[in-house]
Amino acid sequence: MTKQHSRRAFLAGGATAATAVAATAVSATAAMASGDGGVKIANLADVKPGVPVDFNYPDDALAYLVDMGRSVPGGLGPNSSLVAYSGLCQHRGCPIDYSSDQALFICPCHRSIFDPSNSGVVVEGPSQRGLPRVTLEIRQGSVYATGIENGPVYGRACSNS
Ligand code: FES
Repeated sequence: MTKQHSRRAFLAGGATAATAVAATAVSATAAMASGDGGVKIANLADVKPGVPVDFNYPDDALAYLVDMGRSVPGGLGPNSSLVAYSGLCQHRGCPIDYSSDQALFICPCHRSIFDPSNSGVVVEGPSQRGLPRVTLEIRQGSVYATGIENGPVYGRACSNS
């Protein structure tokens, strides 16, 4: 069985699912504006390999920060392993899930699959576009979202808000 993490499942699944998700996923429910052009996602020390942190960016849109557990192209942090992407599928905007077992984002609606270790490209499925990437910075031990690459985020008119 595949471990998957999603805010959608958390909200729709009731107490049992909520407990299961809460045990393995981290939610940045209080993302805060830094006051200097970024949005704080999490303390770097709290981000664990394979455990996605969901946050909202560039507005209330779902996004995920993931430590891939190994160096990946464009990765940030001490191991060049931190990446972040929009959590909205580029096919029709469904919230996607992160599979820790497969290290892939999977859309539950029509099963588009995206690879966060390879710039969010489409691995399979109907989406014609890869996931927009959230650019990151680390400041004083915290990870901040600072912009969008390869946007726009699904349903948004421009790459940055
Ligand atoms: S909305 Fe994601 S595959 Fe269709």
